[in-house]
Amino acid sequence: MVSVPAHPSAGTAVPADTVAGLLAEISQVGADQHRGGYWRAVFSTAEFDLRTWFLAHAAKRGLDVETDRNGVIWAWWHTAAGDTADAVVTGSHLDSVPGGGAFDGPLGVASALVALDLLQAEGIRPARPLAIAVFPEEEGSRFGVACLGTRVLTGAMDVDLARALRDQNGDTFAEVAAKSGFDPALLGPDPEALARIGTFIELHVEQGRELIDRHQPVGIGSSILGHGRWRLSVSGQGNHAGTTLMTDRHDPMIAAAGIVMAIRDTARAHPGARATVGRLEPVPGGTNVIASRVDLWLDARHPDDAVTASIVATILAEARLIAAAEGCTVQLTEESVSRTVSFDSALRDHLSLLLPDAPVQDTGAGHDAGILTQFVPTAMLFVRNPTGVSHSPEEYVEDDDAEAGARALARVLADLLVPAPDTP
Ligand code: GLV
Ligand code: MN
Ligand code: MN
Repeated sequence: MVSVPAHPSAGTAVPADTVAGLLAEISQVGADQHRGGYWRAVFSTAEFDLRTWFLAHAAKRGLDVETDRNGVIWAWWHTAAGDTADAVVTGSHLDSVPGGGAFDGPLGVASALVALDLLQAEGIRPARPLAIAVFPEEEGSRFGVACLGTRVLTGAMDVDLARALRDQNGDTFAEVAAKSGFDPALLGPDPEALARIGTFIELHVEQGRELIDRHQPVGIGSSILGHGRWRLSVSGQGNHAGTTLMTDRHDPMIAAAGIVMAIRDTARAHPGARATVGRLEPVPGGTNVIASRVDLWLDARHPDDAVTASIVATILAEARLIAAAEGCTVQLTEESVSRTVSFDSALRDHLSLLLPDAPVQDTGAGHDAGILTQFVPTAMLFVRNPTGVSHSPEEYVEDDDAEAGARALARVLADLLVPAPDTP
């Protein structure tokens, strides 16, 4: 069933200067008529429409906007000195997973704009510059590597490998970047851009149920579960569905089915582990064709990176046995790995003083904040999601909670931007 993206503001008049009002403006951009929800792949028309929307809002607020050589947008609210050193940076991403929700990414961007409005309305004069950043390809839905933009920016990923990544059309990241107006030769680590960030704060929709259970609209992040993606390619013998007897087959789809079950069972045997196969592609993919190859993608997560590695090793060993029993072979390729990270503890404790009712919570979802925290003091705020569901059209945020999130972000930014007066 195709579900039309549901937005809290759909069909109702919402004030334009609210988070809900901003998100209502983009509620039709990238609406996925086929799968439901949204499909806003990085550097697609939909993602560019969202960039244009953001740039218009930044310009309206008098921000100084640049899109850098890696496709990161920075919208600056300068101090009187006009420099970019020791900046407070907030923001998130505008790309989505296929069939994604309205809030994963855009909530952080819209909340940053509203938080800025609140600071400007209060007459705050920042002692540090503030930038709202929009990072490309956080989901890794087009090129397969999660947080590709921040990995390239920080040098966490080799840029030659990044350039060679291919989307589902077979186009490389370098080719798509070139078609999108970026010089592929200039993609790569940007130590100057990174050095400008003094503190990074990402606000994000919660992708679980903790804030529902804690009856709080806003939470503070403490750590991100280590996670990774691996491609398993199962090869067999392509053949005719009608003429090939069941006893004569080497069908990689049968092996893939067994491997999917083995993945579930392996994860269940490790408390705290999560493992998912959300994408599987038979080659060539015909109803009356026994596939010659099946590619399936494993997403595996566990708080202990060594356990994640051992889960993947167990899955590979099982997959080899299952494939061999079917007369098939299997190959495993690592696509991206993010180790478990904790956010800056001093910053997190400081946020807890500013937002005393906000629970401190871990998350099982990946974020650009998880890459950036390895380089600069970083924190996250989460906003309650009453469905507890994410990466789905069911993802949701109530208007009041969205505004509470923006106010919490403004409170944090104000504290970081304006030094506390000296005590006499
Ligand atoms: C991103 O949202 C991820 O956790 O995969
Ligand atoms: Mn996200
Ligand atoms: Mn996501």
